[in-house]
Amino acid sequence: MKAFISTPIYYVNDIPHIGHAYTTIIADMLKKYKWLHNQEVFLLTGTDEHGQKIEQSAKAKGKSPQAYTDEISQVFRNLWDYFGIDYDYFIRTTDSYHKDAVAKVFEVMCENGDIYLGEYEGDYCVSCESFFTNVKDGICPDCAGNKPLSKIKEESYFFALSRYQDRLLQWYGENENIILPQHKKNEVIAFIQSGLTDLSISRTSFEWGVPLRHILSNGKSDKKHIAYVWLDALFNYLSALGFNGEKNSTNWKMEYWQNATHIVGKDILRFHAVYWPAFLMSLNLPLPKHIYAHGWWMRDGQKMSKSIGNVINPKEFADAYGIEALRYYLLREASFGQDGDFSQKGLVERINSELGNELGNLLNRLLGMSEKYTQLTIESSDFESIYPLESKHINEIFQSIHIKMDSMQINLYIQDIWKALSLGNASITKYEPWNLYKLGKIKEINALLALNANLLLKASLCLYPIMPQTAKNIALAFGQTISPKLYNALIQNAQSLFALSLQKIPPLFPKIEALLIPESHTLESQNNVDSSAPKSKIMESKIAESEESKSTESKAHASATTNTTANTLANTFDGIALIDIADFSKIDIRVGEILSAEPVPKSTKLLKLQIDLGERESRTILSGIAQFYTPQELLHTQVCVIANLKPAKIMGQYSYGMILASKDEYGLSLLRIDKKHQNGSKVS
Ligand code: ME8
Ligand code: MG
Repeated sequence: MKAFISTPIYYVNDIPHIGHAYTTIIADMLKKYKWLHNQEVFLLTGTDEHGQKIEQSAKAKGKSPQAYTDEISQVFRNLWDYFGIDYDYFIRTTDSYHKDAVAKVFEVMCENGDIYLGEYEGDYCVSCESFFTNVKDGICPDCAGNKPLSKIKEESYFFALSRYQDRLLQWYGENENIILPQHKKNEVIAFIQSGLTDLSISRTSFEWGVPLRHILSNGKSDKKHIAYVWLDALFNYLSALGFNGEKNSTNWKMEYWQNATHIVGKDILRFHAVYWPAFLMSLNLPLPKHIYAHGWWMRDGQKMSKSIGNVINPKEFADAYGIEALRYYLLREASFGQDGDFSQKGLVERINSELGNELGNLLNRLLGMSEKYTQLTIESSDFESIYPLESKHINEIFQSIHIKMDSMQINLYIQDIWKALSLGNASITKYEPWNLYKLGKIKEINALLALNANLLLKASLCLYPIMPQTAKNIALAFGQTISPKLYNALIQNAQSLFALSLQKIPPLFPKIEALLIPESHTLESQNNVDSSAPKSKIMESKIAESEESKSTESKAHASATTNTTANTLANTFDGIALIDIADFSKIDIRVGEILSAEPVPKSTKLLKLQIDLGERESRTILSGIAQFYTPQELLHTQVCVIANLKPAKIMGQYSYGMILASKDEYGLSLLRIDKKHQNGSKVS
């Protein structure tokens, strides 16, 4: 299957920062993930080069807009090349085929009766290139860093956005998973419901943009109109695929566009989730399949932004710590959709503990032991029956890990890999191969090494989208190559390799002893000399994340919290042991809709339910409610589901969660919600 993935096209008013790198890395990650699933992906990135902001920036540098955009666009392209981003095309909105497409699109929209001539009077933010009305304090409500709005009053063409309100709502109503995370979708729907006003789509007070031809029958305008920069910018997604403004464009790679995913920051979700589909509807073109909106990278509680000047230079960090570690940090640190706080110390901690101690160390231990005990060849056809518990856990992780990526829970996807790695490290500590060796138990040693080699190989396949080079290196240590075929065998079909020959490779992530970039460079020292204070806050909220509940770090934290609370407050209430909010937040309860229910053969108690939790695929959950409900009466009812319970095997089948119910002597009652909610809504 073919698929299209886009990054936003970045403004060239300044050089790239870590936020741009983050979006682009996510897009690259998704391409690699889809490649593993045998999908042919067209990845698009590029630069957004028109508009008032660029015109002003060029002027401030004493350059012509074209010379200026040529220069900065190249800086973006070089950075993506340096990062090894596997883009298929890099678009510039100053490219002539793109400008022709935008001018043509305007004509077609006119023909379709969606454009009229008027006058725009209101506020405009040059920084985010948006129109605003009714803003009281004259400050842009969307931009970081108190951007002043300018008053504008000029002749303008309008797009009849208000006509599309109902169709947009219908589209979102019928397609559950267009926007992730779900709460962002709810915001978009609320915005549309609050009423859409027509959108000004041309400007007449400056020149740096795509000239529009006047073709309205009553078009009495004598002004020169240029396309509003967002109209111009959004159509990059189509012009890059060969669309020339008309539906029957001969070179249009339509098969990619039909399966399109946009990756954006939350700052520009409205443009992608409201204006863009309305434009496409006006032209009768297919709509995007997914719009994934991530959060912002912050510095000391403020959005990192070129205009505030608190930005992190991605190249500087990649030079110092490596591209792979930086990718890992960005994807692991923030929950997709939530803001993250960029910290050099945090990066170093993750490199040393997770990449060095847990991943690198497991590989090193394995290579070292295999060299010593089995001459770098491992053979064991029955390691899964010799270590059944470990094998079962590891298989469960890799069989369900796709659920995380399919719902864009990238950090949880990574945590799953690390859960498997910690099972591997624990198995070596537990079974002590050095003692097995003394006892001459070569079969058991081979089995233990095979268990861990398979674990690492599976981890490397899943890691490939996150850290491609590291994944390749690990696979190489086992004489393997990362490929869709190997992924299909080991991950999708849960197979194992029973004979492996190993080769030693250098340590993956040597320990970093001190920060490699002087803090003054990264601005950390300015506001944050005692970086332990805000840092520990972040650590606490991270630790509270459900998936880390098993780590020793969080155990230490939990007991520390209990101690401090014990000093100040009682820790039981009427005989019920109290927990704190961090403990509660480990439990992820969601609203889910029962799509189907059927009896489980040979069981009188169990029903097998398919539950929609707002994820890409429904979940199978086995529940002991067969004596209290018939399958029929459960259909399309919404229940409360513990969504982060480890999968469990019951009567030979896997269950991925648990539904909540209350039971007393009169029977059992499911917890349902009072009013209908979006599937996947959090219960807290
Ligand atoms: O908006 N944290 O371009 P832009 C995370 N040209 N991501 C960030 C970020 C931060 N602090 N700051 C920026 C534009 N980004 C338009 C887009 S698309 C048709 C036109 C990322 O240079 C994030 O992806 O302001 C955000 O959406 C994008 O950069 C905005 O880049
Ligand atoms: Mg911006």
